[in-house]
Amino acid sequence: MNRKVNVIGLGYIGLPTALMFAKSGVEVVGTDLNEGLVKLLKDGKLSFEEEGLEKLFNEALEKGIKFSTEYQKTDTYIIAVPTPYINASKKLDPKYVISATNSVLDVCEKGAVLIIESTISPGSIDKYVRPEISKRGFVLGKDIHLVHAPERIIPGNMIYELEYNSRTVGADDFLIGERVKNLYTCFCKSEIVVTDIRSAEMSKVVENTYRDVNIAFANELAKICRTDNMDVYEIIRIANKHPRVNILQPGPGVGGHCISVDPWFLVGDYPDLTNLILTARKINDSMPTHVLSRIRDIMREHRITDISKIGLYGLAYKENVDDTRESPTLQLLEKMDEHLAFGVKVFDPFIKERIVDHQFINFEDFLNEIEILVIITAHDHIKEKFEIIKNKIVLDTKNICDFESAYKL
Ligand SMILES: NC(=O)c1ccc[n+]([C@@H]2O[C@H](COP(=O)([O-])OP(=O)(O)OC[C@H]3O[C@@H](n4cnc5c(N)ncnc54)[C@H](O)[C@@H]3O)[C@@H](O)[C@H]2O)c1
Repeated sequence: MNRKVNVIGLGYIGLPTALMFAKSGVEVVGTDLNEGLVKLLKDGKLSFEEEGLEKLFNEALEKGIKFSTEYQKTDTYIIAVPTPYINASKKLDPKYVISATNSVLDVCEKGAVLIIESTISPGSIDKYVRPEISKRGFVLGKDIHLVHAPERIIPGNMIYELEYNSRTVGADDFLIGERVKNLYTCFCKSEIVVTDIRSAEMSKVVENTYRDVNIAFANELAKICRTDNMDVYEIIRIANKHPRVNILQPGPGVGGHCISVDPWFLVGDYPDLTNLILTARKINDSMPTHVLSRIRDIMREHRITDISKIGLYGLAYKENVDDTRESPTLQLLEKMDEHLAFGVKVFDPFIKERIVDHQFINFEDFLNEIEILVIITAHDHIKEKFEIIKNKIVLDTKNICDFESAYKL
């Protein structure tokens, strides 16, 4: 085993994982269907920014990592393809995982281990992956071994977390689980728990759902406090002094590819049992509308009627990354669009290409055009600009501004 690891899907998760294995001395080929991406990587260029990624990339290149659009014949595969949810049913869309599994089956050696790192809803391997394998005449546990090793890393701190987060390995066969655990030990310095596949699937979704529910609680508190002029941040700060209380922070909404997506898997599969989880999702999805109503109040107070005088700071869904998937700003712009409110200005120092209307690439130009600055993403960049932005009307949805005049959520 582990003569060569073929990592399938070279996005936010697959690429750093492939690089980590390669840096640690494992022979790695990274495979992606996106020809442009593979060409970019072969040319020695990265497709996204991440602290420490360039250094890791160079180390992995020195160790001989290869990139290809072809699946490799080997005995170990790691699948890190997207797992979106179907909008209407809220259930997992398994098409990428199914397609990658079949492509692996086309080329794999007998007895190969197929490790699925993609986040999947509980029961997905039984429902979608095993049938594909059986259909093709492979005997599970003999011709092919299944493992689910979900990933926990967070953009912005991925390289550190790959090394220091603990991991879960779910396997049908405990010995295979132990072998996969040993494989990850080449770079993972934390505990690796070996369990069954269903528990690995469920625990991953539960982790993200827990955070969604906790954030929703903070967001609901923010709304309650707003109606009666209480300081939600002060209240959470005090409440968290209780030894068994740990409330997260409110914000403009939940974005990204995990927390805002994974709870839907449970809602889709257990609609009658997920009242709390569904309500939490709805509260978090309502936050861009709450920000809009805050902007409206501030405009009224200052007798500003021109929407083009509003500037949204941040397009990424979290600080110091360039990932805009499901971002609160995009959700907010969509809401404005629905209300025919066009013309709001947008800026994000991490997004160098124009992806929305009225997006600025230069911060000073952006600032010159606006009167109300709405901070939606707490990039370090804006934290260094407080002296400059103080003379604007600032709505700080992330509670980062230390000056009195800033409005809060
Ligand atoms: N992004 C995160 O922060 C994060 C964190 C933890 C877990 N996850 C999970 O990891 C998985 C991957 O997420 P991501 O953010 O890396 O996605 P991504 O969209 O950044 O990357 C996925 C890559 O897979 C490629 N791909 C799709 N189908 C393929 C196929 N059949 N064969 C080969 N390549 C294929 C795509 O071209 C793309 O480059 C998802 O299940 C996600 O939920 C993501």
